[in-house]
Amino acid sequence: MKKLVITIDGPAGAGKTTVSKALAERLQYRYIDTGALYRGVAYEAKAKGISPDDGHQLETLCRDLELTFVRNEKGVRLFSGEIDISDYIRTPEMSMMASAVSAHPMVREALLGLQRKMGAEKSAVFEGRDMGTVVFPQADVKFFLTADLSVRASRRHRELEEKKSPQKFEEVEKDMARRDTNDSSRAVAPLKPADDAISIDSTQYSVEAVIELMMKHINEKI
Ligand code: DC
Repeated sequence: MKKLVITIDGPAGAGKTTVSKALAERLQYRYIDTGALYRGVAYEAKAKGISPDDGHQLETLCRDLELTFVRNEKGVRLFSGEIDISDYIRTPEMSMMASAVSAHPMVREALLGLQRKMGAEKSAVFEGRDMGTVVFPQADVKFFLTADLSVRASRRHRELEEKKSPQKFEEVEKDMARRDTNDSSRAVAPLKPADDAISIDSTQYSVEAVIELMMKHINEKI
């Protein structure tokens, strides 16, 4: 059977994770969070004392990466070797570091093969920044999900509060704006919609409404 690839790109806090997981569940596809892979690189760099600006050392680090997604009773988890790093990679510090390491061409190159291999294994929903533009230009259905900065920042602020990781709203909004700028202005694989992506602005929509709209497009296309 043909393996289908659905891509969801967009800036931080647009709701990509929630809708990607829901679509994957409905379609019985795999869900792949590619941001987690960049966070994994950031985690490894920090653990080894490598600066996110040191391209040379990051290149060496990427040669020995052992990042794998494992589904267990806690959901889909990211492992580095034998260690479950899923919770460690979700801090505001790791968000900024992931954005910084992701601007290095050889880090992107190292993760490109890994992501394409996952796309060849099983039908999947991939969320990220360059899924529809660079990693899967032939994807079956591509979405670009956005929302106003203040809405995205308040969603992220609420998530951090729930995790008891307090950060002032203004700080969350500032970090997010910085990350948007980094991710959209880098030279390699910047965040932008693919020409054939379906753009959805979730500012005014509920999560359920976005999922329904996406399912409608998917059913029409497949
Ligand atoms: O989706 P996220 O917020 O977990 O991603 C963290 C960072 O990783 C993001 O700021 C930029 C980078 N990233 C990327 O460059 N390309 C992707 N496909 C996914 C994430």
